[in-house]
Amino acid sequence: MKAVIYEKYGTPDVLELRDIAKPTPKDNEVLVKVYSTTVTAGDWRMRKAEPFVARLFNGLFKPKKVKILGFELSGIIEETGKEVNSFKKGDHVFASCGFKFGGYAEYKCLPENDLIAIMPSNMTFEEAATVPIGGLTALRFLNKAGVSNGQNLLIYGASGSVGTFAVQIGKYYGANVTAVCSTPNVDLVKSLGADNIIDYKNEDFTKTATRFDCIFDAVGKTSRSACKHLLMPNGKYVSVFGSPGKSENDLLTLKELIETGKLKTVIDRRYTLGQIREAHAYVEKFHKKGNVVVNIFENQ
Ligand SMILES: NC(=O)c1ccc[n+]([C@@H]2O[C@H](COP(=O)([O-])OP(=O)(O)OC[C@H]3O[C@@H](n4cnc5c(N)ncnc54)[C@H](OP(=O)(O)O)[C@@H]3O)[C@@H](O)[C@H]2O)c1
Repeated sequence: MKAVIYEKYGTPDVLELRDIAKPTPKDNEVLVKVYSTTVTAGDWRMRKAEPFVARLFNGLFKPKKVKILGFELSGIIEETGKEVNSFKKGDHVFASCGFKFGGYAEYKCLPENDLIAIMPSNMTFEEAATVPIGGLTALRFLNKAGVSNGQNLLIYGASGSVGTFAVQIGKYYGANVTAVCSTPNVDLVKSLGADNIIDYKNEDFTKTATRFDCIFDAVGKTSRSACKHLLMPNGKYVSVFGSPGKSENDLLTLKELIETGKLKTVIDRRYTLGQIREAHAYVEKFHKKGNVVVNIFENQ
């Protein structure tokens, strides 16, 4: 099968499209024919080993544990292991590969108990592939902060993958959402339901008179100390640089929100597996709008 391998840390040029053996599922695994995957911030961070702590996880001098990146995927189950009960051949699924990565390949084995679920019925493969990382991160951080009906929520960095999902989930929870983004993204963020927009190119959000029950830094570009005075007495500050925690069924929660029209995805650009270097170079600039997809097989 075709897969993108990386054997040293560095620029997008370290990513190489190669032919390798197709994997065989273990008894508890499904084999997914991968239709779409994405380039997330986590992918380029692991490629560059940035921050340095990535090396403690994946090898001090060169990638050892993970050689195929790709944090999330969608596709069709081609084969199931003997003990698999929840899925069958032909199921359309979407999944987070977690820190095992592996989406940049034509086939990927995943344990049936990992973060894998039947795809939302109203999404294409490329749309579904964008949901697990950005969607789960947004959902888990907003849950961690206990965002609820009627609260004032500020989302800093509302135009990225995590941010675009967070604006919509915040609205679903009934919060009054103030979104901070730059001028070119104002219309996009408004279309996702934000009640108020602060354009960070023209206005310093830390000077706003509003006070918030929750501030979510969805891009890791502000800080608790910069925002402290904007919080209500029991207000919560959460950042993507913290730990989101997790819950068993949260991929299914997102599926339900999508199928009931409460959540959609934003796709900025599309690439093929052969264009993976260009895709990484673009995403690494940190200005994508929503998500960047990599399509592997045609069937969108
Ligand atoms: N803790 C976790 O479990 C977890 C999970 C997923 C992601 N993350 C981290 O969360 C961060 C965001 O991930 P992502 O996938 O959402 O990133 P992303 O989609 O690449 O973010 C790009 C967006 O960020 C905005 N942005 C960049 N600099 C900004 C600034 N100074 N102020 C406001 N907005 C800014 C950009 O808007 P402009 O073009 O307008 O600047 C762009 O729309 C990454 O650092 C990632 O590593 C953490």
